[in-house]
Amino acid sequence: MAIKEVVEHPAKVLSEKCKEVTEINEEIITLLDDLYDTMVEHDGVGIAAPQINVPLRVAIVELGEERDVLEMINPTVIETSGAEVDIEGCLSFPNLFGEVERPTYVKIEACDREGRVYELEAGGFDARAILHEIDHLDGILFDSKLIRVVTEDELAQMYGEEE
Ligand code: CO
Repeated sequence: MAIKEVVEHPAKVLSEKCKEVTEINEEIITLLDDLYDTMVEHDGVGIAAPQINVPLRVAIVELGEERDVLEMINPTVIETSGAEVDIEGCLSFPNLFGEVERPTYVKIEACDREGRVYELEAGGFDARAILHEIDHLDGILFDSKLIRVVTEDELAQMYGEEE
């Protein structure tokens, strides 16, 4: 387990389609643990493998108020519905925040670290976070979906000054 350096835009690894994981081995388990350590260190709610320079279809995201960690290996989107505009950020764009339209519901299939295939449904911000991370695995970055950039002053007004 280790905190890795976060790759920032622009970088080739961030804009490429990542490869499927063919075998869940020690390397993949370590990757999941490194992703977690790196996400926590940088106070993110999700992170994808290319963001630590590993072009594999692996990502994690924290869900709900409990911030339960969801590990996604080879995730695929089965279904989406709805649409909502909300503010996003990304660890690979340290100073960029803005409005992105995403579905309000998503159903995915993915593999966990034990190699079990699971299905998961999520809504609201959880759905947004999952879809943001899966986009990373296809080399799609949130800046390409930005409707409007939100300034740090606006963010401070929206969420209040945090001490
Ligand atoms: Co991101």
